[in-house]
This record gives sequence, C-alpha cells and structure tokens, in this order.
Amino acid sequence: MSPPSPRGRHAQAARAPAGLPTTPELRSTGRRTSPAGIYVHLPYCASRCGYCGFVVTTDSSSSETYLAALEREAALLIAETEGAAFDSLYLGGGTPSLTRTEDLARLLETLRSRFGLSAGSEVTLEANPEDVTPARAASWAAAGVNRVSVGVQSFEDRELAAVGRRHDADRARAALATLVEAGLSVSGDLILGLPEQTAESFRRSAAALAGSGIEHVSVYLLETDKSKTMEQDRRLRPDRYLSDDAQADLWLELSQSLGGRGLRHYEISNWARPGREARHNLKYWTRTPTLGLGVSAHELWAGRRRANVSALPAYLAGLEAGRRPTALDRPCDAAEEARERIVLGLRLAQGVPAGELESWIAASEDTRLLGDYADWLALGLLEADGERVRFTEKGFLVCNEVLCRFV
Ligand SMILES: C[S@@+](CC[C@H](N)C(=O)[O-])C[C@H]1O[C@@H](n2cnc3c(N)ncnc32)[C@H](O)[C@@H]1O
Ligand code: SF4
Repeated sequence: MSPPSPRGRHAQAARAPAGLPTTPELRSTGRRTSPAGIYVHLPYCASRCGYCGFVVTTDSSSSETYLAALEREAALLIAETEGAAFDSLYLGGGTPSLTRTEDLARLLETLRSRFGLSAGSEVTLEANPEDVTPARAASWAAAGVNRVSVGVQSFEDRELAAVGRRHDADRARAALATLVEAGLSVSGDLILGLPEQTAESFRRSAAALAGSGIEHVSVYLLETDKSKTMEQDRRLRPDRYLSDDAQADLWLELSQSLGGRGLRHYEISNWARPGREARHNLKYWTRTPTLGLGVSAHELWAGRRRANVSALPAYLAGLEAGRRPTALDRPCDAAEEARERIVLGLRLAQGVPAGELESWIAASEDTRLLGDYADWLALGLLEADGERVRFTEKGFLVCNEVLCRFV
C-alpha cells in the first residue's frame, strides 16, 4: 500500500523477544541469493470497512474449501520451488485473524513442510483488534506466528465508527498490549485522512501507537478512490476531511515524532525500531522473489510476474481442476527489471545506487528527465551523497509524481 501522493534518532533497540527474527542489514537484502518469501491471501472478513478496496468477502461459506485450495496450490508449486530457501511468510487479507486457530496451525504446518521455511523465519499474521485475545495470541505463537500486524487505523472512536470498524479505541489498545505481552513482534497500522479526523486527533493516535510498546508502525494516507461511497462522501462533505496541505504537514511532523521515539522511517509508509523492519515486505521493495498463494495474490518468481485471478469462484474452480488460476503471467525483461529496481528501491529511505539511477536516466528516451532530476535535487526532494540517491522527507510527499516519470 502506498500513500496517494506522498506515502530514529536515539534509537534504543527494543529488546527482541526470544526466538524472533531480526531484519538483516537493509542494504544486504535484495539480490538473487537472498532467501525468498511467501504471501498467502485470506480474503474472509466479518464485514466490509468503508474505505477498503482489497479482494475480500463477508461470506464465509467457502472458507474450508478455500483452505483446501491453498494446500493444493502449495502442492502445485513444489517442483518449481525445489532447492529454494524461504525465510518469510506473510498471511494477509482480508482478516487472517478470523481463521480458526486449528485451521491456521494446520495451514502453517503444510506451508512449512512444503516449502521448508528456515528456522528463524519471520511469520506474520494480519489481525483485526477485535479478534485478539490472550488465548488466540498464545495459539498463534504456538503455531509459529512471531509477528502480528494489527489494523488499528485510529484511536478515536468517532473516526473508527465513521468507516465501519468493528472495534473501538479501547479494544485496539488492549489488542496491542495482549500481543506484546505474548512476546510477539507487533506492528500497527494507522490511516491519515479518515473522515472526522483532525490534526489533533491524528497526533493523539500517532502518539498512542508509538507509545504502545510495538516495534513497527505503518501509516497510510486514506485512498478514497478504493470505495465509491467514500469517494462520494469526500466530494459531498469535504468539511469532514483534512485538506491535502494539512495532511502533508502532519506527514512531515509524523516522521519527527516517531523518530523521536526510536522508530526509524525506512520506507515511504513504514517506521521500525532498528532490526524490526518487515523482512517480508522488504522483499517487495528489493525485488527478492516471493510466491503469492490465494485469490488475487501476486508473485515474482523465476523472473516472471504472476497474479492469481481476483474472483473467488474462479480461484476455487481452478484449484479444483488441479491448476493455478493465473490472470497474469509475464516475463520481466532486463529493462523492466532495471526500472523496477529504481522505482521500488526509491521507496526505501536508503534509496538506490546513484550510478544505477543516473545510467537509467541517461539512457531514457525522455529527454526532459535529466533536467527534472537536477531540479528534484535542487528542490531538496531527492538527496545524493555520491554513492546513493534517496527521497528526503519532503520528497516522499510527492514521490508518486516523481516515480511516475520513470516509465
Ligand atoms: C490488508 S489491509 C487490512 C488488514 C486487516 N483486515 C484490518 O482491517 O485491519 C492492511 C491495511 O491497509 C490499510 N488500508 C486499507 N484500505 C486503505 C485505504 N483505502 N486507504 C489507506 N489505507 C488503507 C489499513 O491501514 C489496513 O490496516
Ligand atoms: S479493512 Fe480489513 S477488515 Fe476491513 S474490509 Fe478491508 S480487509 Fe476486511
């Protein structure tokens, strides 16, 4: 997820709960020798939130068939993944925390045995606050989950109600405390730009999340185009929304305040204590191979970009017939790979090698790109230290406008 237009100091490393993986040095990730990752999409949700554009369903009647389909899909990948090493697994959704704990344990066991996940792998589960209880946290940990990403979105009841969340602020606070107490590595998501949000209420939410003892924070700018009702609401009742300028100011302030609490801004939308960067997500930004299982899941494997169909019945029917139901399957040529390395690499605070970026610009058919690059540096949107080029905090705010020039 990237913010629409946009999207630590005194870092005292949080003590790692025993057995949790830490992230390798960022710069050392991303080449072909790095272990791969596995994403699994679990599309079931108890209800649909007002802003959500993900592939989800509130009809759980197919959930058992779906888990069987995932197992079949994993089996179909065996030959192709033989000899590959994996060190991250991400269960995303939808609402993976809705999955019965015994089903989740079985799914993780299947994936572990099929793909031979290495000891110390990062295993992340996305959870909604209302699903978190001490008993479930213990079961998730026993099943091998060591990282939980919680969709907090806000600590203001009025804002949560405005987008149809099923939890209130107290429930979110309790969920984070329970997971931290259970010894899991915890990440929390916030959204900037929710209806009814004010500058003060956003500051309060950010401070509450940073002070909750978690190790990783993701902040997304509300994308209203993901839902027709939300898009319409923003057009008809603009007074309910922060202006773009107010959001931009809050974004810049956010990095300062999270940095002051030891959370380092390492990717457009992500902050972490040192060593707690999301190992799985880093694979996307460094073009490290990842498999994608489940409806609508995307993957980069053996130099090809592939995606499964987005319709649940078609996904289930494909696996029932013994094949992966792909909607996209194309090779990435060298030019595309070079472009992706720049566009994805610039999302990271560490940026990209200056030589790689400058060679790409020099070879581009877009004759204005070289001049624009000089302007971005002069305007302080990009900064270069001779070795690498990266966005500044101000640059992250307009990164989509810059990145779309790399076509
Ligand atoms: C896969 S989603 C949902 C995970 C989980 N089911 C939940 O609701 O908490 C992951 C995150 O994307 C963010 N997100 C989803 N839709 C968004 C939108 N339209 N604009 C900005 N952020 C969004 C939310 O912060 C959410 O927690
Ligand atoms: S935001 Fe999360 S819970 Fe809400 S509909 Fe989307 S995936 Fe489901």
